[in-house]
Amino acid sequence: MKILFLNGPNLNLLGQREPDIYGSLTLADIESQVMDAAKDAGVEAVFRQTNHEGELVTWIQDARGDADAIVLNAAAYTHTSVALRDAIAGSGVKTIEIHISNVHAREEFRKNSIISSVVVGQIAGFGQHSYLLGLDAAIRLKESSVG
Ligand code: DQA
Repeated sequence: MKILFLNGPNLNLLGQREPDIYGSLTLADIESQVMDAAKDAGVEAVFRQTNHEGELVTWIQDARGDADAIVLNAAAYTHTSVALRDAIAGSGVKTIEIHISNVHAREEFRKNSIISSVVVGQIAGFGQHSYLLGLDAAIRLKESSVG
């Protein structure tokens, strides 16, 4: 089983960026936790980050026939990108939306996710653990018929 972890804009700054909201771990720290957990679970994980919307679109398109699931922290594009929404719908790859922060308890504009209607479900507000919960959700999806 192969799970693609895709990260959007500004997540390369984790650790320095608004640590009161996003915590003190870097994206590399989170990647290392995900890789260890994936190894323990016997699944392949691929971890990527980009600040470019089109690159995320291409990675989602390319996941078709390659990955079993996508765990996506689309960051700010969550709230703005019809292109990402269409890429997820078009790829047909089961996608789990994750956020470090609880987007529903923050500014009004963060409460709307353009991608939420095309993902299996959303995990938000568990800090860096949102990634491990995303991994768990992806594995369980594969094992069950949910989603
Ligand atoms: C985020 C929440 C988004 O609203 C924000 O733009 C981010 C990070 C999160 O992980 O909590 O960059 O996706």
